[in-house]
Amino acid sequence: MTAPGSPAPVTLATLQRMKREGEKIACLTCYDAGFTRVLERAGLDMFIIGDSLGMVLMGHESTLPVTMDDMVHHAASVARVGRHAWRVVDMPYRSYETPGQALENARRLLEMGGAHMVKLEGGTDMVPIVEYLTGNAIPCCGHIGLLPQSVEKYGGYKVQGRDEQAARAILEDARALQTAGVGMLVMECIPSALAAEITAAVSVPTIGIGAGPACDGQVLVLYDMLGITHQKNPRFVKDFLQESGTIPGAVSAYIAAVKTGAYPAPEHEY
Ligand code: KIV
Repeated sequence: MTAPGSPAPVTLATLQRMKREGEKIACLTCYDAGFTRVLERAGLDMFIIGDSLGMVLMGHESTLPVTMDDMVHHAASVARVGRHAWRVVDMPYRSYETPGQALENARRLLEMGGAHMVKLEGGTDMVPIVEYLTGNAIPCCGHIGLLPQSVEKYGGYKVQGRDEQAARAILEDARALQTAGVGMLVMECIPSALAAEITAAVSVPTIGIGAGPACDGQVLVLYDMLGITHQKNPRFVKDFLQESGTIPGAVSAYIAAVKTGAYPAPEHEY
């Protein structure tokens, strides 16, 4: 139940309305109860409990070693205290290889992890899995462009969709996933012009990370936007703590910059 005076919980219908009305969606990754409270107090619309936790919290070199148990543990920590923001939880590597395995694991993220929606990486290849999940009442978010779970295939974290053929394939991924039933799309590291074309072509909200200003919303890895990184940040990351001085101040500055369109700026685009 919502406490008197507190904002109404964000639902998928809220996010769809925001897309229709051109109100930008502010999203960050989040993995624990303490940050959940700080981020909700600042008025964030949406959390992604991302498998990036394997890198930023657990010290792995990639997201590949992250397990279902890891995701349930962190998602439940966010859900235990989360009252307002929409929660999208990542399906970790190799947890959605068959429709049956995907359904079992997605149900676990909803039931034990308090997810409102699960996120899967992939395009047209993911259509049968998304159809099966959505046919079984699991809200799904697609993730296209750069797919961190496929980092070994790319040989590094590289911008995707730069040439015409690759761009058409990513647009096709977006359309196919929407037809399969996703309620949202995360687009990672693609040129701004392609992200704008996809955002106009689909009716579901698009959330960009390194995908330029035309997306319906923006997400950053929380640790990156607080400057807590051990590697050189990619071009699209902005350290909001540096200019704000406090964590709540940095989060509020991020939300304001997303809402006004000040972030991402041209220097953050591909
Ligand atoms: O794991 C993660 O942090 C993600 C980001 C793209 C939001 O999936």
